[in-house]
Amino acid sequence: MIRSGRMYKIVERKDLAPRIKLVKVLAPEISRKARPGQFVILRVDERGERFPLTIADWDPKDGTITLVFLEVGVSTRKLGELREGDVILDILGPLGNPTEIKSHSVVCVVGGGVGIAAAYPIARAFKSAGNKVISIIGARSANLLIFEEEMRAFSDELYISTDDGTKGYKGFVSDVLRVLIQKGYRFDMVYAVGPAMMMKAVADVTRPYGIKTIASLNPIMVDGMGMCGACRVMVGGKTRFACVDGPEFDAHEVDFDELIKRQMTFFREEKDALKYWEANKGVLGGMRT
Ligand code: NAD
Ligand code: FES
Repeated sequence: MIRSGRMYKIVERKDLAPRIKLVKVLAPEISRKARPGQFVILRVDERGERFPLTIADWDPKDGTITLVFLEVGVSTRKLGELREGDVILDILGPLGNPTEIKSHSVVCVVGGGVGIAAAYPIARAFKSAGNKVISIIGARSANLLIFEEEMRAFSDELYISTDDGTKGYKGFVSDVLRVLIQKGYRFDMVYAVGPAMMMKAVADVTRPYGIKTIASLNPIMVDGMGMCGACRVMVGGKTRFACVDGPEFDAHEVDFDELIKRQMTFFREEKDALKYWEANKGVLGGMRT
């Protein structure tokens, strides 16, 4: 794990969809160590809070890591305002345990919303390890669907869903999974990454069939090192810290209702902070070079 006080330059930036952005950041040490399933903790500027983002891609040759994020609160809005050449103050990582990539023969990778970008390195790693990879990706609407071509490149079959039916199957990714299982698809393992409600729904679909299911959890994180307790989750009736014990856990054992409740802990404060930041943006600014 690398921690450095130096700044991290954005070398590429793209708008992938409304409120979903991609930044490629120069972080050579992290790019050399990153593995599928790992994340970083960022602080955009000196006034910024710390927040986790899954590493969507990395390239040790050019020393970059790729991060994809949804603009939801002040920190992700600040990050979204940065341009190529701007810098991020602090990036800590790679953090968390890498995904265990075994040869399971048939793996189903399920990605929802911005979580599809986090599913991409997982699908790629399972495919590269010789597994048959069936991927299901979904978004609320066609214009919010990201990483379709990236996922297709490492999937034997790719299924798409949208909540409103503007592309692919009309419904949730978990509905597509249910249909595939009912059609007779046999999965040795299902890997889910996306909103907690989606991962809960995926676990509910696979539980009756006894299909091993892994979820990549996304609780609030602060230090990312197992000391603050912010990322506490209940798994199999025991308290675990997603940052050091996870972020991946057996989805059938996770208490998703508690996770969802804890994710909402600072909902009101976050909304107020965003309102304040929007009203005072010109004064507070971001960090630009
Ligand atoms: P979203 O709310 O737009 O949902 C995306 C898709 O997930 C939907 O199209 C649907 O197919 C599925 N889904 C949503 N709610 C569902 C439900 N109740 N039942 C079944 N399926 C459901 O997603 P978004 O706004 O892009 O948010 C993405 C989420 O992914 C964020 O909460 C973010 O924290 C999370 N995320 C998680 C990780 C991780 O490592 N776990 C990484 C990146 C992002
Ligand atoms: Fe602090 Fe996990 S983020 S213990």
